[in-house]
Amino acid sequence: MYRYLFSPITINQLEIKNRIAYPALGLLYSYDSRLNDRYYEYFRARARGGAGIVTVGPVGVDFIGSGLAALSLRDDTYIPDFQKLTGIIRGEGARAFIQLFHAGGYSHPILIDGQTPIGPSAVFNPYAKVTPREMTLEDIDTVQEAFAAAAARAVEAGFDGVEIIASAGYLLTQFLSPLRNQRTDAYGGSFENRVRFPRETIERVRQRIGPDVPLSVRMAGNDFVPGSNTDSETPAIAKVYEAAGVDVINVTGGWHESKVPQLPMELPRSAYAYLALNIKKAVSVPVMASNRITMPETAEQILRDGCADMVNLGRVLIADPEWPRKAFEGRSAEIRPCVACSQGCTDQIFSGKPVFCVGNPLAGFEGERKIFQADPSKRVMVVGAGAAGLEAAVTAAQRGFQVSLYDKAGDIGGQLWLAGAPPHKREILELIRYYRAMLNRLDIRLHLNTAVDLELIRREAPDHVIVAEGAEALVPPIAGIHHPDILTAWQVLGDNPRLGRRVAIIGGGAVGLETALFVAAKGTLTPEILHFLFAYEAERTERLRELMFRGTSEVTVFEMLPKAGADVGKSTKWILLANLDRHGVKIRTNTKVAAVEDGRMLTLDGPDGQTREDFDTVIVASGSRPVQRLSKALEEAGIPYTAVGDTIAPGKLNDAIHGGFLAALAL
Ligand SMILES: Cc1cc2nc3c(=O)[nH]c(=O)nc-3n(C[C@H](O)[C@H](O)[C@H](O)COP(=O)(O)O)c2cc1C
Ligand code: SF4
Repeated sequence: MYRYLFSPITINQLEIKNRIAYPALGLLYSYDSRLNDRYYEYFRARARGGAGIVTVGPVGVDFIGSGLAALSLRDDTYIPDFQKLTGIIRGEGARAFIQLFHAGGYSHPILIDGQTPIGPSAVFNPYAKVTPREMTLEDIDTVQEAFAAAAARAVEAGFDGVEIIASAGYLLTQFLSPLRNQRTDAYGGSFENRVRFPRETIERVRQRIGPDVPLSVRMAGNDFVPGSNTDSETPAIAKVYEAAGVDVINVTGGWHESKVPQLPMELPRSAYAYLALNIKKAVSVPVMASNRITMPETAEQILRDGCADMVNLGRVLIADPEWPRKAFEGRSAEIRPCVACSQGCTDQIFSGKPVFCVGNPLAGFEGERKIFQADPSKRVMVVGAGAAGLEAAVTAAQRGFQVSLYDKAGDIGGQLWLAGAPPHKREILELIRYYRAMLNRLDIRLHLNTAVDLELIRREAPDHVIVAEGAEALVPPIAGIHHPDILTAWQVLGDNPRLGRRVAIIGGGAVGLETALFVAAKGTLTPEILHFLFAYEAERTERLRELMFRGTSEVTVFEMLPKAGADVGKSTKWILLANLDRHGVKIRTNTKVAAVEDGRMLTLDGPDGQTREDFDTVIVASGSRPVQRLSKALEEAGIPYTAVGDTIAPGKLNDAIHGGFLAALAL
């Protein structure tokens, strides 16, 4: 079906069965640099799912470059565990690659026993918030030797290919960048000098592993950091890599400290494939594309259009390791989507915690959470077709139960529809696509427009009842808040009503801020119109920018706390706040709404004392509370049931999906 995606490719002399590569991705499943069962089972699942290449990494080449958080191959004692891992990956039919890693000035003293990180120059690193020690010529030789020695160990451990990381702002990119490399010796200054360290490192690794082992370099297609390398310079860098002996170039986006987002939902699918094409035009070795290549159609198009020779599927394979197999078998609709929420992966890593997946309760738990078969004569009734109920129904059906799913609404999805409504959040709706396909595949009987009561449950007499009634908008006790003109955020996101020009939003949590963006984006240019106007130079660039971010409403958010967005994840908060700022949304913190008159006049207790302000539309976004109507009735009737999701307490998407899964597993 996907002709290009499933055609083999040869790298050096190694045949890869398809064009799908799982890239290096830090998982933090150990804090001693060692592999363990959690890693083995995680990688077994990724290899079993059908990817052509499975890359293990980041793997540190020495202590100062990675500390204890990343895996390591800094000495021979690490080899046996990696031998076991390559046996698992290769045994499942994938090629095992390893990414060798050195953070350089991106490391931090707390990760490396209080040592000062090393880098090309002693220039403050704003990402790590530390000034590294300038590497001596001896340090340079030592690190290059560490790369070569680790590469040799990797080959001994059975890896089919080796990758060197020269992306994301780590050591090799630091040498390339005039921003971090201010040396005056042979390793700094001119292009030739700045590229010397990466070039020599590649040459040394190549020399050590011999001519036949596939060697890859992962490079930034554009650093996306002012003053650093752009996509005007990166093709020349790629040419140097090719001449130094790499067999494949893996092109990703920019540095960690870039103000251009690299990972979130806002990043359009395959947005950085153009960077791969830019490199592909400069070299003759195969090139890989990366970042947000989500569905098989997207991947196939990149390959068909000739932007790259292979695609990296990172978080996508965390969310569904079976992606390749499902695509191959024409079951794309059954792919569990990565919704690019960052909550289970990036946010976890930033907090020093192990990676999981919001949408896939098995990711990182492959060894302990097993979908074991149940008695197929038993019947399960699931009430509520939001995320928690859907996941519970699908898992119960996968276990072999006969499952019926009920919802009083006319469609499945519940709050997922609201979560997917704001700009750049549409990827969330992919979950509905997935669950719809799974209900079909697993023959789950769906009863929509059906309110479930005790009578229906007694009549159906299921063996198990799972209640996922969800939540409802919470209206805070503010004088005048029940005026009929005042809307809840849920009404705005769900019904998309016409709003006034001056809009006030009460509540600056995640829902309030997303709603603010939803409202502020009304009346702004769509991407297609922007493309048209830009192509024909119909408007000045500044005017286009204005039209992108100024629509029909002026939005003000009122938050009682000193900071808005307290419940927004670390890796996406800055993006959301920057977006709100671009859209001209005003956020007034430390400001309590004391009363609302006539549904529009707010009395505010803020830093300037008490004030009154008039708005055309007032929206309440003050959280939600559980709906427990059926659960309470079941309780009183003494009928056993399991509550899942927001019915227990309003939580995040992760709580709903994992809760639904675990409840069905426990039946
Ligand atoms: C939690 C996390 C850790 C990552 N660690 C690495 C890494 O160590 N080396 C690397 O080259 N890329 C790393 N990446 C980037 C991924 O390999 C991949 O390029 C990125 O997630 C974009 O692709 P995707 O949209 O398919 O996930 C990491 C990404 C995430 C989310
Ligand atoms: S946690 Fe979110 S971003 Fe990370 S893999 Fe899962 S769905 Fe994707």
